Amino acid sequence: AACTSEQASGDWQTVGTVTQLDQDGQLLVQKWPTVNVLVVSTSVSENLIAVDPTCTHSGCTVTWEGEDNKFYCRCHGAEYDIDGQVLQGPATEPLKTYLTKIENNSVLVKQ
Ligand code: FES
Repeated sequence: AACTSEQASGDWQTVGTVTQLDQDGQLLVQKWPTVNVLVVSTSVSENLIAVDPTCTHSGCTVTWEGEDNKFYCRCHGAEYDIDGQVLQGPATEPLKTYLTKIENNSVLVKQ
């Protein structure tokens, strides 16, 4: 997976099915179990990215703009690249990222 954030602890948990992910190109899970997670797939479906879609500027939920390969916040226009790094302010901190993978028909994320 492209997501390489290091998480010291936590378990892999299923957040949805590959069928769901392929339908929309993304999978938003709210309160998983305490935070939100947004899994998106780039052109190759094995290339998964999982982030906490909570904008680090003021807490709006960012959306994935698949055509531009970036996350976008409607509230004040912040943009993040596929690794969660800030492309455009007003946000200054990156999105939190999670490890994610596919097993059989399940999409798993590690918190
Ligand atoms: Fe996202 Fe302000 S809350 S840019």
